[in-house]
Amino acid sequence: MYRTHTCGELRISDVNKSVTLCGWVQRIRKMGGMTFVDLRDRYGITQLVFNQSADAGLFETANKIGREWVLQAAGTVMARSNANNNIQTGNIELIVDKLTILNNSEVPPFTIEDETDGGDDIRMKYRYLDLRRPIVRRNLELRHRIVMLCRQYLDKQNFIEVETPILIGSTPEGARDFVVPSRMNPNEFYALPQSPQLFKQLLMVAGFDRYFQIAKCFRDEDLRADRQPEFTQIDCEMSFIEQEDILELFEGLIKYLFKEIKGIDFNDQLIRMPWSEAMKYYGSDKPDIRFDMKFSELKDITETGKFTVFDSASYIGGICATGCATYTRKQLDELTDYVKRPQIGAKGMVYVRYEADGTFKSSVDKFYGQDQLKTWAIALNAKPGDLILILSGEKLKTQKALGELRLEMGNRLGLRKKEVFAPLWVIDFPMFEWDEELERFFAMHHPFTSPKPEDIPLLETDPGLVRANAYDMVVNGVELGGGSIRIHDKQLQAKAFDVMGFTPERAESQFGFLMNAFKFGAPPHGGLAFGLDRVVSMFAGLDSIRDCIAFPKNNSGRDVMCDAPAALEPAQLEELFIELKKPGK
Ligand code: AMO
Repeated sequence: MYRTHTCGELRISDVNKSVTLCGWVQRIRKMGGMTFVDLRDRYGITQLVFNQSADAGLFETANKIGREWVLQAAGTVMARSNANNNIQTGNIELIVDKLTILNNSEVPPFTIEDETDGGDDIRMKYRYLDLRRPIVRRNLELRHRIVMLCRQYLDKQNFIEVETPILIGSTPEGARDFVVPSRMNPNEFYALPQSPQLFKQLLMVAGFDRYFQIAKCFRDEDLRADRQPEFTQIDCEMSFIEQEDILELFEGLIKYLFKEIKGIDFNDQLIRMPWSEAMKYYGSDKPDIRFDMKFSELKDITETGKFTVFDSASYIGGICATGCATYTRKQLDELTDYVKRPQIGAKGMVYVRYEADGTFKSSVDKFYGQDQLKTWAIALNAKPGDLILILSGEKLKTQKALGELRLEMGNRLGLRKKEVFAPLWVIDFPMFEWDEELERFFAMHHPFTSPKPEDIPLLETDPGLVRANAYDMVVNGVELGGGSIRIHDKQLQAKAFDVMGFTPERAESQFGFLMNAFKFGAPPHGGLAFGLDRVVSMFAGLDSIRDCIAFPKNNSGRDVMCDAPAALEPAQLEELFIELKKPGK
């Protein structure tokens, strides 16, 4: 037996016991004739004591060891005279009488502590060392716990876990696919699944009724803090259900996780906010409703013929930042620069300070009098001391920019507290979005999402207005999951394909196997998928999902530890019938 206890286990009640521990050397302190070693394993840290006067040979060995060496230490548990209240084993120490060096270690490139001196790149290169840090390990322990809870919940609800393939065919709707050449089928490629979507629908045709999978998904898209090229979904599908059944069941799952992990009860039904409302008041399909600061539309109450920017705008919207009338010119310039960033895209920002004395000072004073400014203030429910911020332009674009400005103000005012959670459903998404460049409609969720029955006639007349049976679970401004009720009717599917500009032949070549399956009695069905990485990040309060993934990719999609992606040997390329256009080094 290598050990009798773990490094996180011993307490004052264990004093005088003979024990053996194994672990890594976290820290060594040499104090005259005494050497103290902090021994760490997954469960905690225990202080080892080596006393020169008790055993000079052992003391000498202990003085040779270095950080991250792997030790086996046997001895007697004693009470500590100077207890360390920061760790659970802080009341005891191990007086070592036998030490076995199981392995030595090079000096690690950064300190293996919660507060490390290692930057991102070096930690990712040596991720196995980074994972020794308790702060990172805890995220993975939480991830494990969440997966177990999900499995438990879904199992109780009669879901069965089914694995679906990773090597599949390409379906170029949605993000870009990662592709894999096939040696046995020259010039042909597999794609990695962006999600198990088509397979879970086939499982419904197969009569599985309730499916789930903790599924790896792959998307070749631009990366952000909450996006990885390879990520994990808690993927689910059900038959003989309507939207409300799904919302209830998965609201139950999220509430169960909140209760088990955070001890938070959400007793009421979660808010169900139509997409149109989310855009109107928050400028986002994933509104952060931890704070109010809702938009007011000002176009109808703005005098015309005064300010050409507002005259020519189809939309004028404002927010009220409580207590911010004292913002300096510099702060206001910063906000203007913020909304003018290319990714936000506003042309400028108008501000109105509602001074403590009840007067208004604004960046548009030369165009509008106090009465106009007051009208805006009333619409925004502003009080003396508040600051009004206004953006104008094309409706959807401006709403989105104002949404970003609202979040920025929420950050500045400390209104986005990590320990507060505000979950909601966003429902009634538009079925299609228009792509200006390609001049065609795309499915906003995916091509099998069903329209609201009452909107079906609009498929012929005004597809842009059709609402879908699609829903997203949003918490604190993050889309945690989403799904839809699917189309199971061939004619309706054909109509939807038609709107998206698919010829029957193209639909057949891309989705033929699903279409074929639907000829054999597809039940009414629907489902959703949660992003597991995002769920864990939310509960752990992380800024990036990378921190809860054991071996993540960096922002350029690289695994810096195993140096992937990498060039292939010419022989490998030849075997795959691939010739490089720009041969590398
Ligand atoms: P969707 O594309 O909305 O739906 O994805 C579901 C959830 O997966 C997470 N997610 C990601 N997480 C990390 N990195 C990424 N690159 C990434 N992309 C998505 C999000 C998102 O809400 N098949 C449908 C689901 C369905 O209709 O049942 C789907 O994949 O949390």
